[in-house]
Amino acid sequence: MAKQARDLPLPALTLDSASSTPLHRQIYFGIRSAILEGHLRPGVRLPASRALAHALSVSRNTVTSAFDQLAAEGYIEARTGSGSFVPAHLPKEQIQTKPGTNIVGPGPKTKVLSPSRRASWLMSMAGESTPRHPFAPGLPEVDLFPFKEWARLLGRHWRRPTTEALSGTAPGGASRLCAAIADYLATARAVFCRPEQVIITAGSRQALDLAARVLIDPGDAVWIEEPGYWPTGAVLGAAGAKLVPVPVDDEGMSVTDGLVRASSPRMICISPSHQFPLGVTMSLARRLELLDAARNAGSFVLEDDYDSEYRYAGRPLAALQGLDQGDRVIYLGTFSKVMFPGVRLGYMVVPDHLLDAFLKIRTLIDAHPSSIAQAALTDFIEEGHLASHIRRMRPLYLERQANLIEGLRPVRDQLKLMPVDAGMHLVGHFKKACNDRAITNGARRLGVQAPALSSYYRGEPARRGLVLGYAGVSGSSIKRAAARLVDAIVGS
Ligand SMILES: Cc1ncc(COP(=O)(O)O)c(C=O)c1O
Repeated sequence: MAKQARDLPLPALTLDSASSTPLHRQIYFGIRSAILEGHLRPGVRLPASRALAHALSVSRNTVTSAFDQLAAEGYIEARTGSGSFVPAHLPKEQIQTKPGTNIVGPGPKTKVLSPSRRASWLMSMAGESTPRHPFAPGLPEVDLFPFKEWARLLGRHWRRPTTEALSGTAPGGASRLCAAIADYLATARAVFCRPEQVIITAGSRQALDLAARVLIDPGDAVWIEEPGYWPTGAVLGAAGAKLVPVPVDDEGMSVTDGLVRASSPRMICISPSHQFPLGVTMSLARRLELLDAARNAGSFVLEDDYDSEYRYAGRPLAALQGLDQGDRVIYLGTFSKVMFPGVRLGYMVVPDHLLDAFLKIRTLIDAHPSSIAQAALTDFIEEGHLASHIRRMRPLYLERQANLIEGLRPVRDQLKLMPVDAGMHLVGHFKKACNDRAITNGARRLGVQAPALSSYYRGEPARRGLVLGYAGVSGSSIKRAAARLVDAIVGS
């Protein structure tokens, strides 16, 4: 039943005894709105609590509880012996009289506030966040992840958190985790660093963002791969970099082309172990040429080593970082592929002379990722669970790659799809000129995610094709999704 404060200067104060909002909160909101909307002007005296309680048929305690809250927040002030008043110093002109609102609304002259120009640019770069369907690139097999072990380790650290876990790790991350990663990088990737040079991040995109904040000034030229991983360009572009797309050929990013386009880049961004999306491994000759060009031009090199753990033949080529003299390569790694993307953990290796800048700026942003997750990950690595999960996934991913190629055999005259010995995705190249984006759209309508190769180019696409992630799609789903993709290609 609604009750009203008739005969008092609060006609709009209506209580609903059937509402789940307690009566004292209803009174609080009612009076607060009356003040903000200008019905109760600065200096006005409020009804006495006893009179208001009587008018609203509630207990006096209910009213005084509301008054106490209003007084604590500065909406009213109690004067001993005189009652409660709306403070005289509330700025009259900023209290709105728009009925029906209980907040300070926009005044007649205020503009609608919008995000920054930088944000608008970034938003235009951001892809749609669509539901993940087969063959969305970059997804590992999550169903076979050893969640039991992971949960056990998380539980262990939640039950007995260390002081470091509770008060926060150093900005670079938990020292044991940094040491475990430095060890792994030395043996598996020939990346040379001290554990202190490893910074734990919330995935490699955060590492990229940190590198952009620390190393880029507006107007700096940055070479990015063409085609390439679009977040790299988006994050660096948002930092004000002048993006210089440099074509990728069969040996990786073309240094000769880069030098023609911008001879003194501030930074060169590459994925040399397994170029995204084309899948090329940068030749040793090209790596040496690139490092030489970077040294001559005084450029930093940002090495994105996102999926090198998945190598199906021979040993992976060592990381570029190990070929450098230790002063210009910033190395990025991620647990998104070897664990699952939602874990949001990655790392970067930073040259000694830049560490102070990276760590200080990192502290301002988010301090560090969850210390409990870092502690669990340390054990997960040290107890060998990560290595055995990767070992189990390798033959499975290779088999899925073969299944995908087999499933797309009906369109092999149109789409060239070759087996590759690394990674989690394949690129199918269309043999004839075609609109690959239209095929992507057709596939999406059939529940298949097959991004167009042309969408990874910033300029005119040199090749048309489809980028197909197979690692996260089970055998039977690959068959079904491949059949739908065949339909989309044939029907295009
Ligand atoms: C080229 C490339 N780099 C990095 C990443 C990983 O990003 P993150 O660690 O932020 O999940 C991905 C993931 O899809 C990628 O494709």
